[in-house]
Amino acid sequence: MKGVILAGGRGTRLMPFTKIINKQLLPVGPYPMIYWAIIKMKKSGIQEILIITHNEHLSNFKTILADGSQLGVKITYEIQPYAGGIAHGLMYARDFIKKDKFIFMLGDNIFEESLLPYVKNFIDKNEKAKVLLTRVNDPKRYGIANINKHTQQIISIVEKPKYPLSNLCVTGIYMYDSNVFHNIDFLEKSCREELEITDLNNIYITKNQMSYEILKGWWIDAGTHTSLFRANQLVQAVLNQSETSEDK
Ligand code: G1P
Repeated sequence: MKGVILAGGRGTRLMPFTKIINKQLLPVGPYPMIYWAIIKMKKSGIQEILIITHNEHLSNFKTILADGSQLGVKITYEIQPYAGGIAHGLMYARDFIKKDKFIFMLGDNIFEESLLPYVKNFIDKNEKAKVLLTRVNDPKRYGIANINKHTQQIISIVEKPKYPLSNLCVTGIYMYDSNVFHNIDFLEKSCREELEITDLNNIYITKNQMSYEILKGWWIDAGTHTSLFRANQLVQAVLNQSETSEDK
């Protein structure tokens, strides 16, 4: 199992900071945001991580993370030449993944729980794709999953629905097999001129190859000023708690 973190995007919701710095390098607690995704991957047993970012930010990532050895992982980098969407960014992981399975994470997703049990299920059950869902109060902001009440199967995902049918948000934590690159080839640009991760996931759903689990604990997409502030509060609370238990 390998790990891929997307650290691209325009960061428009975090202007003006993102005029000069990549969103995923903004501070969350005492570390850059992306650190948390790396640590979650490491704790779920992943050693090899690819970071995909834009050319103008690459040197900053390399300065901070280098080859990952300080964090106990092996980090390599690929460039997404322009902000063409999440699924577009994922295309640049093809050479790194080869025939492996992998976790794909959005670098602005911060959450409490360990990924280990979800990764274990993905491998043990030989699943082809998996999304982790969480309940949110503002479903219009996210990809929202519709679940069949009787079979409990995932029927479809709608990106930023005007009229959400549930409050089950698809988090930016995805697991795929290497067929994902074949599926990406069938994607077409959405009305916002991007290759959408939701369209990619819907391909797996149509083929009956998508599983899901509900992510325990808190989860936050730190892509806005308000949610970045909240992410800092939540992370700091966890750090304070672990300091207190170390003191005992
Ligand atoms: C992206 C995805 C969306 C997902 C969200 C999670 O949205 O398109 O499906 O629910 O990440 O963080 P974005 O933050 O790019 O608007």
